[in-house]
Amino acid sequence: MQIACNRLDRLFAMHQTEYEKKAVEVLRSGYYIMGKETAAFEREFAAFLGGGFVIGVGCGLDAIRIALHVLGVGAGDEVVIQGNTFIAAVLAILQNGATPVFAEPDDGFSLFAGSIKKVLTEKTKAVIVTHLYGMMTPMAPIVALCRERGLLLLEDAAQAHGAADGGKKAGTFGDAGCFSFYPTKNLGGFGDGGAIFVRDPVLAQTMQTYKNYGSDHKYHYAMAGINSRLDEMQAGLLRVRLRHLDEINADKAAAADHYTANLQNPYVVKPVPAKGTDCVWHQYVIRCETRDELAAHLREKGISTDIHYPVPPHLSDACRFLGVKKGDLPLTERLAETVLSLPLYVGISREEQDEVIRAINGYRPVQ
Ligand SMILES: Cc1ncc(COP(=O)(O)O)c(C=O)c1O
Repeated sequence: MQIACNRLDRLFAMHQTEYEKKAVEVLRSGYYIMGKETAAFEREFAAFLGGGFVIGVGCGLDAIRIALHVLGVGAGDEVVIQGNTFIAAVLAILQNGATPVFAEPDDGFSLFAGSIKKVLTEKTKAVIVTHLYGMMTPMAPIVALCRERGLLLLEDAAQAHGAADGGKKAGTFGDAGCFSFYPTKNLGGFGDGGAIFVRDPVLAQTMQTYKNYGSDHKYHYAMAGINSRLDEMQAGLLRVRLRHLDEINADKAAAADHYTANLQNPYVVKPVPAKGTDCVWHQYVIRCETRDELAAHLREKGISTDIHYPVPPHLSDACRFLGVKKGDLPLTERLAETVLSLPLYVGISREEQDEVIRAINGYRPVQ
């Protein structure tokens, strides 16, 4: 049996008629940018998040870039970010002329207040929390720290649509929550897309203006903005997917629970969501000291896996000029060497999962 790491075709097939109907409706409407689908999606996603404002943008990277810019983060500022994150937030900081300062996560992949405190300086302007793999970072201590120190708080919730802490959704705890709708995300589109969540209506309006050439009404440019818009087709299709997001998250959670209940291997560490949080299982990420060998063992049996992410941002070529060296973030680097994402997608069958479970449980390191 061949088992892929992801099968977006199965997710599409589950609600195929609804997507096709919406796609035709958008095509026939004659409106493809900034029309009623985008406005409706922004309202519906804001309602899903519990109120506030959503600004649709071109992708997740732009969501973070725009949020930082409009919140006033720029040259001379430092932004604290966990070492084990996807590079987008780091690039967004750099592209605003600010400096990323990396903090170590805890054992559950999450940033925490104690780690942030260690790297604060008088230049620190903001903190970005990434809810990696859909694991919800416990937010209360981080919110308290940011308030106490007067720091901006942003969330990279690109992998955590619907995750919650104390009933409050990921992306709604700080000054801005940033989302990606890259196709593999739990709320994924059919191309690129992203969004920013804010509570402040003035900030929301400024972000709407900034992302559309700085135009607050037709051919009037209030600021030197950029072009980063969520298009009508993506927004329309995302409205369909949003209606099924709870179902998608529940489906993936059931598959994750099946792995957790049945994976039994002393060389494999299973993921454990933080107490009191509701994670959304974007990925099911195990840890293994002989990760590459385990991945090869699975590959031989026809099972694909992935690594999120093999090179932490501070060791990537793009960040070399920052001068952060190998060894400076030992836990982050250990995670990059040991994490392995197992096949997890809507529509994965019990047989497929049991094949993965058998292969992992039967693995013993030879190194
Ligand atoms: C944690 C995280 N942040 C940001 C992004 C960037 O999103 P996009 O690819 O839509 O720019 C992604 C996904 O790609 C992500 O996983």
